[in-house]
Amino acid sequence: MIGFNNVTYTYPNGMGVFNVHLRILPGEFYFLIGPSGAGKTTIIRLIYMDMFPDRGEINVNRFSSKKIRKSKIPQLRREIGMIPQNFNLLNDRNLFENVALPLHVIGCEKKEIRDRVMSLLIEVGLEDKAYEYPRELSGGEQQRACIARGLVKDPDIILADEPTGNLDPSTAMQIMGLLERINRKGTAVLMTSHNYRLIKELGHRFIEIKNGIIQTG
Ligand SMILES: Nc1ncnc2c1ncn2[C@@H]1O[C@H](COP(=O)(O)OP(=O)(O)OP(=O)(O)O)[C@@H](O)[C@H]1O
Ligand SMILES: [Mg+2]
Repeated sequence: MIGFNNVTYTYPNGMGVFNVHLRILPGEFYFLIGPSGAGKTTIIRLIYMDMFPDRGEINVNRFSSKKIRKSKIPQLRREIGMIPQNFNLLNDRNLFENVALPLHVIGCEKKEIRDRVMSLLIEVGLEDKAYEYPRELSGGEQQRACIARGLVKDPDIILADEPTGNLDPSTAMQIMGLLERINRKGTAVLMTSHNYRLIKELGHRFIEIKNGIIQTG
């Protein structure tokens, strides 16, 4: 589903990720774990083809970082649910509109959008907040809204970048439960975290990264 073959990406300051090999299988739940600055978000952005490797090749479903045309990138992203580290909800749109946005972009019908968005807001427990604005929500609520937005296109993989990073332990467990439920329905999940304790307790597969280098794990 996702493969990194000897991938290197270097920022102008010399930081980045180096000689990365990865295999993400369909339907599995993976943690990408490592300290702050290790390269987790860099890996996520490379999968989303937000940027391209200096060396090596990334394959996501049938797309290759070496061959993909710019015009095909939206097609690739339709298959990926991205939950970015900095929520980036639009402040001038209410929750319903924020979650609906990816469907508007791909030209869905109004009724389909309504049904899909409402069922996802129910799934993440925010149906009562559909018409509120991001600034009226707590951090945990904004995080759940981002998960709903990431799921709205029914992707076959979710990239969740520190979805529990700024939350209290009980809200964090609630978010974990939500991602695990989504995974049990067949969606692969790649979730980053710097919380080693969380990961030990849950027993999912994990990939560890330090200083841009994947550790054997
Ligand atoms: N746009 C950028 N320009 C230059 N350097 C960058 C850029 N983005 C990240 N870096 C550097 O690359 C390294 C990896 O960053 P990355 O964001 O992937 O870390 P991370 O593992 O996601 O960290 P965190 O847990 O804090 O989110 C860091 O040293 C960072 O300073
Ligand atoms: Mg990060």
